Amino acid sequence: MAEFSLPKNSTVQKGKHFAAPAEAKRKRTFKVYRWNPDDSANPRTDTYELDMDRCGPMVLDALIKIKNEVDPTLTFRRSCREGICGSCAMNIDGTNTLACTKAVDDCRSGDVPIYPLPHMEVVKDLVPDLTHFYAQYASIRPWLRTQSPTPSDRERLQSPEDRKKLDGLYECILCACCSTSCPSYWWNGDRYLGPAILLQAYRWIVDSRDEDTGDRLDNLEDPFRLYRCHTIMNCARTCPKGLNPAQAIAEIKKLMLARRV
Ligand code: SF4
Ligand code: F3S
Ligand code: FES
Repeated sequence: MAEFSLPKNSTVQKGKHFAAPAEAKRKRTFKVYRWNPDDSANPRTDTYELDMDRCGPMVLDALIKIKNEVDPTLTFRRSCREGICGSCAMNIDGTNTLACTKAVDDCRSGDVPIYPLPHMEVVKDLVPDLTHFYAQYASIRPWLRTQSPTPSDRERLQSPEDRKKLDGLYECILCACCSTSCPSYWWNGDRYLGPAILLQAYRWIVDSRDEDTGDRLDNLEDPFRLYRCHTIMNCARTCPKGLNPAQAIAEIKKLMLARRV
């Protein structure tokens, strides 16, 4: 695992500069974080100028063009290129978001800074190490848990009203943009579950078909796992799917309170 994470990276050095072709009329400059665990060099930012008349509109298009045509050593994750898989999450123009749904034209004018998700270990370049994040996800046991026997003649049914309670939760793609924007998660990520995992936890708590609510709440009743949320709200501001993890966390806290009285 890489030893590097952004807070230690106060001295990112200037790296290489790749100029746009001389004939480029609509030029845009990208300053991209680079770090390779296989050499002993410090992190640096490389500068890539692209001709936007020969590039797709999204930041992911720019990264793919750089990798294909300018610098094949650049490393990043992507898969679906339509905001579904969550793998292209990174910090673009100062905000955690998805490279495939962020238009270059929506970045502020001037150079576009592109960094990995903040406060995570880095595997290489723009690829964060999500091992701990996924272990936290596994810790909430994110599947339907039941005590009653499975009906033999049908699925476990849910009323339209109960199904509606999952709206705003099921759309989460586990991109980690919210958790890595949360200061509480930055400082206590070893023990605090963070907004993404808590939103997922609530998704199962509120599911009318799940029969393990008590155990799910017990699992969160802890000064760190849940209660390190201090309503900072970065999570809701940054979610590229427009979800509100802070609201889900507040609902869990309400349920905790309700079962105490
Ligand atoms: Fe990503 Fe939003 Fe889910 Fe957080 S709540 S993991 S930002 S989709
Ligand atoms: Fe963090 Fe969101 Fe709570 S930013 S502190 S999880 S409201
Ligand atoms: Fe799948 Fe961006 S490539 S969300």
